[in-house]
Amino acid sequence: MGPIGLLDGKIIDLNENVIQMEDRGYQFGDGVYEVTRVYNGRCFAFNLHMDRLYRSLRELRIPATYTVDELAEFHERLIAESGIKEAGIYLQITRGVAPRAHGFPDNVVPKLTMTIRQANPNNNLREAGATGIFVPDVRWMRCDIKSINLLGNLLAKQQAKDAGVFEGIQVRDGIVTEGSSSNFFVVKDGILWTHPLSNLILKGITRTVIVDQLVPQLGLTLVEKTFDVAFVKKAEEAFVTGTTTEIMPFIQLEGAPVGDGKVGPVARKLHQALMAAVARECGTK
Ligand code: PDD
Repeated sequence: MGPIGLLDGKIIDLNENVIQMEDRGYQFGDGVYEVTRVYNGRCFAFNLHMDRLYRSLRELRIPATYTVDELAEFHERLIAESGIKEAGIYLQITRGVAPRAHGFPDNVVPKLTMTIRQANPNNNLREAGATGIFVPDVRWMRCDIKSINLLGNLLAKQQAKDAGVFEGIQVRDGIVTEGSSSNFFVVKDGILWTHPLSNLILKGITRTVIVDQLVPQLGLTLVEKTFDVAFVKKAEEAFVTGTTTEIMPFIQLEGAPVGDGKVGPVARKLHQALMAAVARECGTK
């Protein structure tokens, strides 16, 4: 088997034509999503992903029509039926199908679609270290909602791609917010810094695992405060975090070396600790 999909609880072929013209996700980007990483056939940090999903639904007033148990079962079924043990599972819930009008329609049932695909761990790049640039953060003011409206993020990633680098680090009003699809951290004078939780960034699950579990476990010091590009340029280390990205260290930003231009010890230790947490939860070696 290979990549497959799921529509409202039913396994489907990815090429099947299932989206209706007037699905509000398709017409307005009116929906939310999650991406969960599967290691050794098991979802990592599943409950944290579900908590964030239900929060996104509540913030957009999209009714929750599936329980966590049902969604867990759909994840398990996709893993079993695809045979993919190292995977990314994408889950999307749109407000549903209704004649096009900006206001929320009454009495529509949200649509759930999911896909499973082989994960690309990008370990070679992690070992070598990645490159990045700063790009303007042109997104809306509710970046805390994991909405399928991602045009600002897409523009940031495309600028990075055009520049031949791995990630675009977004800057709003002089403040470094986050990557196009990742949270951003720096190490300055031995202290770990990241943008505080607010409407201007996504509360990444990997960020949560780092802040709540790995930082205390490794005895690191963390400051959740805003900082600017000049601050990053003086940092010893910089890295991004995300479900599929895991922890990706930068060796170069804007063409200049980060610290000594090599992958730093904090990023390395955090990645090892993250993989140890994955091993405990998912039974990897
Ligand atoms: N992106 N910030 C943004 C804007 C993101 O899109 C993501 C994740 C993150 C990291 O969140 P997490 O640790 O929960 O993956 C931060 C996903 C993976 C994506 O869009 O594919």
